[in-house]
Amino acid sequence: MTSCMAENLTASSAGQSLTDHLAHLIRAEGPLTLAQYMAAALNHPTSGYYRTQNPLGRAGDFITAPEISQVFGELVGLWCLQSWIDLGSPSSFKLVELGPGRGTLMADLLRAARLQPSFLSAAEIHFVETSIPLRAQQQAALPAAVNATWHDRFEEIPAGPFILIANEFFDCLPIRQFIRKGQNWHEQCVALTQDGALCFVLSPSPIPDEGILNPGPHARQGAVKEICTPAQNLVHTISHRLVGNEGRALIIDYGYVEPGTGDTLQALRHHAPCNVLETPGEVDLTAHVDFSALAASAKNAGATVAGPVNQGEFLQTLGIESRANALRQKASARQRQDIDSATLRLTASNQMGGLFKALCLSSADLPPPPGF
Ligand SMILES: C[S@@+](CC[C@H](N)C(=O)[O-])C[C@H]1O[C@@H](n2cnc3c(N)ncnc32)[C@H](O)[C@@H]1O
Repeated sequence: MTSCMAENLTASSAGQSLTDHLAHLIRAEGPLTLAQYMAAALNHPTSGYYRTQNPLGRAGDFITAPEISQVFGELVGLWCLQSWIDLGSPSSFKLVELGPGRGTLMADLLRAARLQPSFLSAAEIHFVETSIPLRAQQQAALPAAVNATWHDRFEEIPAGPFILIANEFFDCLPIRQFIRKGQNWHEQCVALTQDGALCFVLSPSPIPDEGILNPGPHARQGAVKEICTPAQNLVHTISHRLVGNEGRALIIDYGYVEPGTGDTLQALRHHAPCNVLETPGEVDLTAHVDFSALAASAKNAGATVAGPVNQGEFLQTLGIESRANALRQKASARQRQDIDSATLRLTASNQMGGLFKALCLSSADLPPPPGF
């Protein structure tokens, strides 16, 4: 147990800012854990970042791979097509996307999948998305003849064969942070300064180290260990579903492959870093994804795991160069420059190609997944 206590994170009175609401809660119930703070800042039903803001694109706070180049979604479309063939080309399956943003990835994916019309007629599209404004953009991005169903949670998706994609979804799930102090770990919490501003404090009592906090006794003083329980639980649920139903899941995100320590929490506003605590609900908060923890969770639930591999390697194996070349043939000089810089950004090891990783979860006895 920590002494971060506030629980009533959803009720905020009309007209009250999210900062005021959180300050009120902290005064009434004590400090929040970082995970409670992130959950409220991102997904508070009326004031959370993903409920109120229009985060993506040049006019927003950040840009994602599908927004950089259509080739990203097209290659993921070919990955889905091959996965559907590997599943035995079922006449009906769920094509699931977690956190579809503006719907660009799904639109590009479906365009590439026109190569195989029976894939399109078999696909039943399901989006997991909590943002109402983004749901509207996703609907608008889909071709008119395509129907989709929206869900708040993956668990709501009906049983049956499925192919799931998630690009930059897991990095926005709330993390807990633990800081090494003496021989113990203390939880990072959010409290108030004497002036009433939000500030970080450590839980006064240490948390029991139940083996979740590798690298355990050898961690240096001040080391930060991050744990994303919602990500591990969701991967466990998806993997459990893969044991009972034929399917595959592709997770692409920025993160690290080996378990380790480090503070990866960041806030972004208009493409620039900003203070994590300054304006909750108005800025994007993310943390790097611990791919080793996700892979362990998937194996634990019985799924077959491939990767993680660097995004650059994944896209090269799927043929990004030949697709970019095909686009170059019909492009103006200016467009050719854009295609080249987008391809480099997505694949270079010192850019998204190295920072982002791809992980594949499958049900048993499928061929090795494309791209791994
Ligand atoms: C960083 S954006 C990624 C968008 C898109 N996948 C892309 O690559 O452009 C995160 C997406 O996940 C959604 N999201 C964030 N937290 C969520 C949650 N807890 N449940 C469902 N959707 C969530 C956001 O509304 C948004 O659509």
